[in-house]
Amino acid sequence: MSTPAPKVESIIIPAAGLGTRFMPAAKAIPKEMLPIADTPTIQLIVEEAVAAGIRQVILVTGRNKESIVDHFDYAYELETTLRSRGKTAEADRLKAIADQVEVIAIRQKEPRGLGHAVLAAHPVVGNRPAAVLLGDDLIFRTSPAQRPAIKQLMDASAAVGGRGVIALMGVPREQIHMYGAAEGSFGEGGDPRLMRITALVEKPPKGTEKTDQAVIGRYVLPATIWDALKHTRPGAGGEIQLTDALAALARGEGLYGYQFEGRRIDAGDKVGFLEASLFYALSRPDLQVATRSMMERLLQEVPR
Ligand code: G1P
Repeated sequence: MSTPAPKVESIIIPAAGLGTRFMPAAKAIPKEMLPIADTPTIQLIVEEAVAAGIRQVILVTGRNKESIVDHFDYAYELETTLRSRGKTAEADRLKAIADQVEVIAIRQKEPRGLGHAVLAAHPVVGNRPAAVLLGDDLIFRTSPAQRPAIKQLMDASAAVGGRGVIALMGVPREQIHMYGAAEGSFGEGGDPRLMRITALVEKPPKGTEKTDQAVIGRYVLPATIWDALKHTRPGAGGEIQLTDALAALARGEGLYGYQFEGRRIDAGDKVGFLEASLFYALSRPDLQVATRSMMERLLQEVPR
């Protein structure tokens, strides 16, 4: 009998970017702290991992990102003040954020690409598997029973002996040049959502695309990724690409794609960010009624 693959116990969140698309909002605060309704985007990402049973969060950060670490720490003064004012629920919520996870921050000293950022977490993870969640890709559950997206990938990975599994989504062909693009056919092991990837290309130039399956920012990386990343040379945009290291795994031991269930929103640009905010508010029991009527009113009120 073969030994089961080691479990994923850490997630890596690359968070070193400058937030260029969110200026001036991201001038003095990290873009990861910008709120979707009342919750920083990075907290939504962390909550997905927590719901998948993971406690260790490795943040790969740059300068001016200390407030993210503070956000996941206890804030005794603030909590005590809230409690003394009778705001118990608010104080409990703050404490809960810190109770859920252990955050370890590590610096990416130079912006040399996603693969380089992930490799910065290697000394913390060691030679073990890990998950990567990209903060711009928010994936909301569309039913209460649905597993968090990263858990869907973890389960798929366990089903294929601990191989790497990355999130896939069909996109219009004219958009595939903005993504990692995966080739292969679904139906692996009888699962219509699972693909054995035969080729993986980071941001294929327009006209060369051979697939409509885009890589979305959720990855279960096997321990073999570390060696692959160390041998990955700069690729698209002159950066060390995680996609290129994964392509090496696809050529070797094998790599899988999983068409996850859930609603993915690219919160990495202004309109996508607004969409995520509205989608989230419309699905929050305490906000949905008021948000819906506000939206209807606004659309009537403001001329096109
Ligand atoms: C990154 C990855 C890309 C993936 C995308 C998903 O690109 O390199 O393969 O498709 O995230 O959001 P970025 O959007 O950071 O340029």
